[in-house]
Amino acid sequence: MAVQDTTQIVLREMAREDIHAVADLCFEQQWPHREEDLQKLLAIGSGLVAEVDGKIVGTIMAWRFGDAFAMLGVIIVAMAHQGRGLGRQLASAMIDRLGVGTVMLNATDEGLGLYGKLGFSELGKIRQHQGLAPVQPLVALRPGERVRPMGAADADAVEALYCSATGMDRKALLDALLADGSAVVLCREHVQTGFAVMRRFGRGWLIGPVVAPDLAGAKALVAHWLGTQTGSFCRIDVPDASGLGAWLEEVGLPAVGQVTRMALGPAPVPGHDAALFGLAAQALG
Ligand SMILES: CC(C)(COP(=O)(O)OP(=O)(O)OC[C@H]1O[C@@H](n2cnc3c(N)ncnc32)[C@H](O)[C@@H]1OP(=O)(O)O)[C@@H](O)C(=O)NCCC(=O)NCCS
Repeated sequence: MAVQDTTQIVLREMAREDIHAVADLCFEQQWPHREEDLQKLLAIGSGLVAEVDGKIVGTIMAWRFGDAFAMLGVIIVAMAHQGRGLGRQLASAMIDRLGVGTVMLNATDEGLGLYGKLGFSELGKIRQHQGLAPVQPLVALRPGERVRPMGAADADAVEALYCSATGMDRKALLDALLADGSAVVLCREHVQTGFAVMRRFGRGWLIGPVVAPDLAGAKALVAHWLGTQTGSFCRIDVPDASGLGAWLEEVGLPAVGQVTRMALGPAPVPGHDAALFGLAAQALG
């Protein structure tokens, strides 16, 4: 006798009240996101949940960066429901409703197959570095250079640096990150050349975004934040191509995992005045 599958799958908008269930799915994957982290991610973006017989078994979130770009993240299907097309349904539904030119994401190894089938191409690797922050590593600043707390007067310059380094409109995200964390700027002869934000996330502190004119500048910014958190758990997600990873290993913040940066559509084109050395979060890019 044939067994009929009577499972009812419903995709619907994610609401604040769903975050507890989303956190449970993160927990099942051993992801570090706290409910607070997920609430903040949802507040600056949107999400869909997949329900089977009234129970949330799949999630996806998305964030728009201007009219051209969006990122997907928190893409999870409960282990017991994987391999039945739910991940594809969630990702396709979110991509359709975003309606932007380019959708990006940072894929776990488990997600690579799905995103490849959806047409995403690989752009590079991101390494997750974390550990207990070492005593502040010594990083020599160059003549005329200093790291100082960010003030209100730095806002426009910092925004311009972030947009240039990512090739995307990151203003709204930056405002949200600054409301939630602390920032320092790197200056050369009083001109802002970089910045780094630090905020609570997951198991401890997350350093990012980190934007700097070069590797030496990025080290100075990260060293500043590590120095304020010596002995506390710190995390930073670093593009492989940035070269910062080797230094983080040296100072005692080892790589513990990696994801693959992928895009469906033309990749954003960063400017030349600053580069991205640390992500705002793995999900946000
Ligand atoms: C990644 C994930 C969301 C996929 O969800 P899913 O519901 O199991 O995926 P689907 O059943 O919709 O599979 C979609 C397609 O990808 C393919 N696929 C899935 N995993 C694959 C793999 N490892 N290699 C190749 N193809 C794969 C499937 O064959 C399917 O193809 P089809 O639609 O042509 O038949 C799910 O495995 C998951 O939650 N993993 C843990 C959390 C995670 O890593 N999330 C990704 C974060 S970026």
